[in-house]
Amino acid sequence: MSDTQPQIFVLNGPNLNMLGKREPEIYGSTTLPDLKALCEREGATLGLGSDFRQTNHEGELIAWIQEARNGAAGIVLNAGALTHTSIGVYDARLAAETPTIEVHLSNVYAREEFRSKSYISPAAVGVLCGFGADGYVFALKALSDRLESR
Ligand code: DQA
Repeated sequence: MSDTQPQIFVLNGPNLNMLGKREPEIYGSTTLPDLKALCEREGATLGLGSDFRQTNHEGELIAWIQEARNGAAGIVLNAGALTHTSIGVYDARLAAETPTIEVHLSNVYAREEFRSKSYISPAAVGVLCGFGADGYVFALKALSDRLESR
């Protein structure tokens, strides 16, 4: 990672530390460290730094999104269940003014109805869901294309 590379924050919310153990029939066998390595590899290929983090705490996720305002060229955001509940995360996203791609490993529209509501989508560049770990790769590529076209 070089200082001149654009930094992308890859932010993960509650329970994503349980990947690989948690409902593998839905979330697959990829673990959080696997996902981190995948994002760092893809980021390096695209000439981007990938700052990969996970938290189970809403306030910490909000602080990281705020930090992106000055610290990141883009955000890949899987807010987990906070996607469906958190106006605080939505407001932080607006305040951050940093292009954000919402990602979910699972297809949230093919699951319980409460997962169809997202507080992130209205403030996101786009949404990727149902592609498993590949969704993070697609999101990094989309942010890279967006940065290059500016
Ligand atoms: C998730 C989908 C959410 O509904 C759920 O609460 C998660 C994971 C996903 O990646 O598919 O924790 O964001």
